[in-house]
Amino acid sequence: MIQVEGVTKYFGSFPAVTNISFNVEKGEVLGFLGPNGAGKSTTMKILTGFLPPSSGSVRIAGYDIVSESLEARRHIGYLPETVPLYTDMTVHDYLGFMGRIRGMSRKHVARRIPEVIDICRLEEYRSSHISKLSKGFRQRVGIAQAIIHEPDVLVLDEPTIGIDPIQVVETRQLIKNLGGERTVIVSTHILPEVSMICERVVIIHEGEIVAVDRPETLASSLRGVERIELEVRGPQRDVANALREVEGVREVVRTPGDATGVSRFKIEAVLGSEIRAQLAVEVVNGGWDLLRLESIGMSLEEIFLRLTTSEDVPSE
Ligand SMILES: Nc1ncnc2c1ncn2[C@@H]1O[C@H](COP(=O)(O)OP(=O)(O)OP(=O)(O)O)[C@@H](O)[C@H]1O
Ligand SMILES: [Mg+2]
Repeated sequence: MIQVEGVTKYFGSFPAVTNISFNVEKGEVLGFLGPNGAGKSTTMKILTGFLPPSSGSVRIAGYDIVSESLEARRHIGYLPETVPLYTDMTVHDYLGFMGRIRGMSRKHVARRIPEVIDICRLEEYRSSHISKLSKGFRQRVGIAQAIIHEPDVLVLDEPTIGIDPIQVVETRQLIKNLGGERTVIVSTHILPEVSMICERVVIIHEGEIVAVDRPETLASSLRGVERIELEVRGPQRDVANALREVEGVREVVRTPGDATGVSRFKIEAVLGSEIRAQLAVEVVNGGWDLLRLESIGMSLEEIFLRLTTSEDVPSE
């Protein structure tokens, strides 16, 4: 539904995004995750035809966003970073206005407004002036205007920014519900949000894609790293040295033990090797007691930090 190929965007001599490629399937909810200045908004402006790419191409529902802009844009609903809401209009009138300027007939708009008001849970505010709405409800109006013309592709740039926790939960649910029928790209710099809303995530950093994966498998497939926690009754230094000898072990970190002579370790090892069995053998051969051995996942936060901290670029 969305095909992005080799997109690069320069502002003057500054490359805001460099050689970005990814596809989004019909009905998929894709997260676009990156820290401030990563190039999320720039990419979204290119996807929606608001900015031309310096090179590369974008196809929406088969239409090229540059050479077939009108057809492509007909398929897109866009919630920009700052929504241009006409605050002196009522919610109802604003939605009607946005529908009309997108080429919908009066009849179509009249039928559609109650639908989007229902989807975005704006019933109570349909006759309110937008200027009177809270930030969260304005965001909903922003989403409502993005879907008024029934686009099959939705591009949402940080839809939950600045919203209180209760409304954030509802807004995320709303976005999740919009997937399925529609194809959705949602940008965020909030990690847990990605796990909650998205089936797949693209991580962007300094204008480049550093990872594309499902949130739950990002850790292992990306880094090829397994993390293990170990508790052993034995002298910490000796045990650590022994563990370091096991093939595939990259790092052994000692964590504070207790007075009962139990040593704790965090181990990072190459994924796929029979590492846990080998660690157990090593402990037993040393004549120590193995009290606990556990494989632990990496949180999205950790992955994100690792991916976006330049000292620690993932090695393949
Ligand atoms: N019109 C512009 N002219 C010059 N530089 C720009 C322009 N727009 C964006 N940039 C730069 O491009 C880079 C990417 O910006 P972009 O807005 O895409 O980041 P972002 O990932 O959306 O960040 P944020 O999380 O802060 O919204 C930044 O370094 C920004 O300063
Ligand atoms: Mg942005």
